[in-house]
This record gives sequence, structure tokens and C-alpha cells, in this order.
Amino acid sequence: MRIPLIAGNWKMHKTVAEAIALVEALLRGLGETSDREVLVCPPFTALHALEPILRGRPIALGAQDVFYEAQGAYTGAISPLMLRDVGCTYAIVGHSERRAIFGEDDALTNRKLRAALSHGLRAILCVGETLAERDAGETEMVLRRQVRWALEGVQDVGGLVIAYEPVWAIGTGDTATPEDAQAMHATIRQMLSELYSVEAAAQVRIQYGGSVKPDNVDELMAQPDIDGALVGGASLTAESFLRIVGFR
Ligand code: PGA
Repeated sequence: MRIPLIAGNWKMHKTVAEAIALVEALLRGLGETSDREVLVCPPFTALHALEPILRGRPIALGAQDVFYEAQGAYTGAISPLMLRDVGCTYAIVGHSERRAIFGEDDALTNRKLRAALSHGLRAILCVGETLAERDAGETEMVLRRQVRWALEGVQDVGGLVIAYEPVWAIGTGDTATPEDAQAMHATIRQMLSELYSVEAAAQVRIQYGGSVKPDNVDELMAQPDIDGALVGGASLTAESFLRIVGFR
């Protein structure tokens, strides 16, 4: 049984005070969560302040990125050890904004993913095609490349979550149809069963991301291979994120 994971990726939003106010509102409004897992990924600067508020509560803490070394002369980087130290249990790797804006490639994503897993973080690996790649009929090829590269040298997918996020759907209001998303999720699961085993692939949660909103979450979550959502814009207010977390 895969428990759906609903994650908020706050991106570069929220001061510490705003972050505290948002998680307090989420904790107040959160209903029964035994059949789903809830995660917030605030900016690095808010993690330390949120850890004591979330300790023992039904919302996990994650980071939006992680570096691949534990320590050293890497100006500006944050290590998996540091993330563990401030209470993170998850880290996002390979988000399309990291790939497009910060020039991160599949090899770097692979190093980050392996570092996260080896330090006991769960990793949310983001994959997805651009509009040009989709229009050229290359979606499956792109996903295959991203998944295979990112998982190179990874023996155990126990701590792995994959987020399928078509780049053209991120922040645009355009969502993949539930049927299209389901087809891509099934394709990714098939890739995992080729790389590992059918049993291992069946355990990996595959989230959908890209303009997930209160009014489209229910039909997306009804698909058999969609195991949660990675939510950007709609995770920034308690009202919309709680509605998404409460999907039926
Ligand atoms: P969005 O972002 O929900 O604002 O489209 C999703 C993401 O980038 O993870």
C-alpha cells in the first residue's frame, strides 16, 4: 500500500514569521491524516524555526534542494547533514527550476540524490518534459533519461519518491489531464520495474506536480498510479493547501 504524500514546495517565498504563521494555520486546520502524509518544504532560512513547531506533529519538514557533500568549501551550499540537523526528513532534488535556472544536469541530480539517501533523507526526484520536448514526441525518452541517470548507482529505492512534473504545467495553470498524468506515472513505474523489480517499483510513490489546485486535485488523486502531489503556488495559503491535503 502506498500512502499518498502531499507536499508543499514553497519555493522562494515566506519570511520566518510568515512561515511560522502558515504552519500554525496548517496544524490548526489539519483533519485526520492517517491515510495520507503531509510535507512542507520551506526555504532553508525557515527550517530551524519550524522544527520545534512541527516536532511530533503530523506535518513533515523537507528542503527544496541539497548539496552532495556533507561539509567543505562549497560556498552557498547546504549539506544533507545540515538538513538532518534542523529536522528535515525529505529533500527535493532535480526540480525543473534547478535544472533550467541553475543549470543543474542529470549527473549533478544523481550526486545530490545519492547524498540525500545515504544520509537518511528521503529524496523527491523531480522529472518532467518541457513543452518543446512534448511537442516533439520526446516525453518518454526524456523521462527515461532523467530517471535512469538520477538513479545511477542507487541500489535501494526505499527512500525514494518521484515527482512527475511536466515543465509546461508548472506555475502556468495548465495541468496534465488526469488520464495523461496517469499514463506517464504508469510509464515511470514501468521504468522502475525494469531498473529494479516489479515489487520495488510498486513501493515507490510517484507524485504529480504542476498547477495542482483545490479544483483539480480530486480527479488527479483518483488515478491508480498517482500517489500524491507536489504543490507550488497553491501551497502558499493554508486554505488552498488544506483543501488539497483533504482530497477525496
Ligand atoms: P505549481 O508548482 O504548483 O506552482 O505549478 C509545482 C512545482 O514546481 O513543484
